Amino acid sequence: MKIIMLGAPGAGKGTQAKLIAEKYNIPHISTGDIFRANIKEGTKLGKEAKQYMDKGQLVPDELTVRILLDRVSKDDCKNGYVLDGFPRTIPQAEVLDTEVAKLGEKIDFAIDVDVPDENIIHRMSGRRSCPGCGKTYHIVHVPPKKEGICDDCGKELVLRDDDKPETVKNRLDVYHKQTQPLIDYYSKQNILRTVDGTQDMNDVFTAITALLEA
Ligand code: AP5
Ligand code: MG
Repeated sequence: MKIIMLGAPGAGKGTQAKLIAEKYNIPHISTGDIFRANIKEGTKLGKEAKQYMDKGQLVPDELTVRILLDRVSKDDCKNGYVLDGFPRTIPQAEVLDTEVAKLGEKIDFAIDVDVPDENIIHRMSGRRSCPGCGKTYHIVHVPPKKEGICDDCGKELVLRDDDKPETVKNRLDVYHKQTQPLIDYYSKQNILRTVDGTQDMNDVFTAITALLEA
C-alpha cells in the first residue's frame, strides 16, 4: 500500500504516519526527518536544506525529489510506504506519479489531515521532539512521563528550530500557496481522503484505518 499524508505543518502527519507504518508494516518516510538527520550529521545536504527550513521555506524540488526517489528505491519499500511531507508541490507530485507508473504501480491513497490554521500555532509551540530517536510529544496533549525527557531513549527533548511562531506563520503561508493545490490534484485522481485532524489523535487514526480498509 502506497500512502501520501497531506496536511498543514503541525496537522499531525508525522503522528499518524508512524501509526500507519506500524499497523501495516510499511516504512514511514518523512522528507523533513531526512533533512533534519542530515542537519544533525552536518552533511552538505543538511547545510543546504537548513537555509530554507529555518526560514519556513521549501527546500528546492530538484534536491528533495532526488532524496525521495533514492529512499523509495530501497528494498524495504517493495510492499509500499507512507510518505509524510512529500510531495509538497505539484511538480513533486508529478515526478512521483511518473516514477511509480514506471514500475507499473500507483499511489493508493492521499490522506488529508485537515486542521484549521488557528489550531496549528498552539500545536507547534507545544511540540517537543527527541533529537535521539525522533519521537514527538506535546506538552499538553502527549506529555512524556518525565518532563523534558524522551520516554524511549532518555534524551532531553527539544523545540524544533522551525517551530518558532514567526517561522510557523511562514510555513503556513507556504503551505497554502504551494502545497494545498495538491488536494485538488489528488481529488481529481479519486484517491483523496479527508479526515478531521482536530479530533483526539486516536480518533484520527481510527478514521484513517476505516478509510484505508473501506
Ligand atoms: P516537515 O518535517 O515535514 O514539517 P511540516 O510539514 O511543517 O510538518 P510537521 O512535522 O511540523 O507537522 P506534522 O504534520 O508532522 O505534525 P506532528 O505529527 O508532528 O518539514 C519541515 C521542513 O522541511 C519544511 O518546512 C521544508 O523546509 C522542508 N521539507 C520537508 N519536506 C519537503 C518537501 N517535500 N519539499 C520541500 N521542502 C520540504 O504533530 C504536531 C504536534 O501536534 C505534535 O506536538 C503532536 O504531538 C501534536 N498532535 C498531533 N496530532 C494531534 C491531535 N490529534 N490532537 C492534539 N495534538 C496533536
Ligand atoms: Mg512531521
